[in-house]
Amino acid sequence: MEQLLDIKHLNVDFTLREKTLRAVRDVSLTLNKGERLGIVGESGAGKSVLGFSIINLISKPGKITGGEVMFEGEDISKYSYDEMRKIRGNKISIIFQDPMMTLNPVLTIGTQMKETILAHMDVSDKEAEAICLEKLKKVYIPSPEKRLKQYPHEFSGGMRQRIIIAISLLTDPSLIIADEPTTALDVTIQAEIMDLLLELCETDNMGLILITHDLAVVSEVTQRIAVLYAGRVVEIGPTEQIIGNPQHPYTQGLLKALPEMADGENRLNQIPGMMPSLFNMPDGCPFEPRCEEKKEHCTQTVPGLIELANGAQVACFAREGGK
Ligand SMILES: Nc1ncnc2c1ncn2[C@@H]1O[C@H](COP(=O)(O)OP(=O)(O)OP(=O)(O)O)[C@@H](O)[C@H]1O
Ligand code: SF4
Ligand SMILES: [Mg+2]
Repeated sequence: MEQLLDIKHLNVDFTLREKTLRAVRDVSLTLNKGERLGIVGESGAGKSVLGFSIINLISKPGKITGGEVMFEGEDISKYSYDEMRKIRGNKISIIFQDPMMTLNPVLTIGTQMKETILAHMDVSDKEAEAICLEKLKKVYIPSPEKRLKQYPHEFSGGMRQRIIIAISLLTDPSLIIADEPTTALDVTIQAEIMDLLLELCETDNMGLILITHDLAVVSEVTQRIAVLYAGRVVEIGPTEQIIGNPQHPYTQGLLKALPEMADGENRLNQIPGMMPSLFNMPDGCPFEPRCEEKKEHCTQTVPGLIELANGAQVACFAREGGK
């Protein structure tokens, strides 16, 4: 299978006054053409920073301090602002949780869509309009000709997110990075949007990186899942293995905390304790303070990812020897 993205040993830091917050630590992952990868983890785990660092869109004082982001064979992490503009919103599109991060409230949908097309493609105004209509139909927006003349506030939340998806498709990207794209929507609409994303990825062989704290959502849409904890990938593998046969104590804890896994009294089994401060990481395994399986050397060395027989990789000393 042809590789689309190859992230190697990526580090992202935020330097605030004298202190350094290590948001992403030694992350390596790959994505094949047309593959769908989920990135999950608690709030503050570094999911959004990782997603944005792929397209070098980290807000100051954030900076990629190490590693590579190989996209279609080139290290785009070293690209200049202008070089990156040709990739961002073109070959790689991003979908945010809040559609209003992308949409301008004072411009019609048609104007905004055409602006995006004309910024990246050498086409006439008429051709641009035809592309807009084609993409709106693709995301099942009824009466697209009429909708093009409307403003963002004239759409419901779910419809607005469909528009965002249509915008993200305008340049026929090979990769979409979606950061919590449905969290703000109600459950039924959430499912419709996820079905739509899945359908579009399949029909157009588009890669997808789906960032979410919702394990149920990723399990339906993605083929592989990476579990992030304190900026590190602690487990990565085929979706059915991560959901059905998790090996890292943190992944196991996340799954137990799912509402469907609630015990008889309907209580969630939250993982006790908190993620360590990214300003002051322990020397050993970042999960050690919360881990029920910890061993003596877990406080001394950070475990690296090891291959398991189930096709997953896990960073945990208790799994050495494989399963
Ligand atoms: N602009 C910034 N300045 C300083 N620190 C930041 C900035 N953006 C993110 N961080 C820090 O980086 C760490 C990772 O944040 P990130 O937003 O990636 O988490 P997340 O996993 O996406 O969480 P959530 O599920 O809440 O969206 C956090 O400790 C956060 O405080
Ligand atoms: S390396 Fe040790 S502390 Fe970390 S998750 Fe595994 S057993 Fe727990
Ligand atoms: Mg986030």
